[in-house]
Amino acid sequence: MRLEEVPKIPLGFYPTPLHELPRLSKTLDGPRIFIKRDDLTGLAFGGNKTRIIEYIFADAKAAGADVVVASCGIQSNWARQITAAAKILGMKPVLILRTAQFGEEPREYDGNLLLDVLMGADVRVVKAPITADVSREMSEVANEYAAKGHKPYVLYGEPPIGVFGYANCAYELTQQAKTLGIKIDYIVHASSGGATQAGLLLGVKMQRLETRVVGISAASRPKNILVQDIKRLIDGAFKIIGFDLDISSEDIVVFDEYELGGYGIPSMEVLSTIRLLAETEGIILDPVYTGKAMWGLIDLVKKGYFDRDEVVVFIHTGGLPALFAYRKYFGSP
Ligand SMILES: Cc1ncc(COP(=O)(O)O)c(C=O)c1O
Repeated sequence: MRLEEVPKIPLGFYPTPLHELPRLSKTLDGPRIFIKRDDLTGLAFGGNKTRIIEYIFADAKAAGADVVVASCGIQSNWARQITAAAKILGMKPVLILRTAQFGEEPREYDGNLLLDVLMGADVRVVKAPITADVSREMSEVANEYAAKGHKPYVLYGEPPIGVFGYANCAYELTQQAKTLGIKIDYIVHASSGGATQAGLLLGVKMQRLETRVVGISAASRPKNILVQDIKRLIDGAFKIIGFDLDISSEDIVVFDEYELGGYGIPSMEVLSTIRLLAETEGIILDPVYTGKAMWGLIDLVKKGYFDRDEVVVFIHTGGLPALFAYRKYFGSP
């Protein structure tokens, strides 16, 4: 099967812009840095999940589902974008949200949670850490809907079908690089569930590019588990598409040095990175994923990981609504 033949339901706006961050490069005295604006993909404030769930919803629709059940943290972008997609497609979004980052039930609606509620998701809050297994709660709520005559599609984890979203993005980047007259040496992005990194690697390998894909862990799971998940997702995607390419463990580059306090914890470095990008380039990052990934990129520049004449593309994977739930970290007037 060819990539274009894998069924998907178009939900996003592409190509997302690719543009240079000259002021950041100058401030860092580093390589040329470009940003791929996947914060502008659409689906209720955009983000990387748009590309991924276009495939997942095609699968859900093909299964005849009218309810989609997903789980994540209380400030989940995954949950918010799934909710928006479900609404567009006339399905009921049901969210099992772990209190994770904040450790307590929210006292007010804010950030992603506000948007979930605004869009009419059925939100069930579970007091549990981000890594907690909530499959029992998911099955229970699915049974509840099934008993009322619905057909639920339950997302127990990230299915490999979603990987094709970022394989497509790698092709989109190649076209844009051609137009801009650049050769992309590195792609750097936030990595958590692994589908984004798996997809980018797949797309890079399918095009036989030398571009290296660097994932900066957002600390939702230990590095070895993340690497295993990326491998599992790639293998799963190969099975669907019916061919294989040589992707070795060395190809899966993940840095977990920038986890800084753990998942959803905004360290001083991340907060100052968010300020730096806002002040130099007018680009807004989020505290859970892109702030961490950009801090990783900046530190790698400082350590000389990239050559001065190389081109680095940072993928802005979105996550912006969560910024508002973290407002207290930025002081007050
Ligand atoms: C804003 C943002 N960036 C990056 C990621 C990581 O993507 P993936 O789960 O595909 O590794 C996520 C995942 O939740 C996200 O919400």
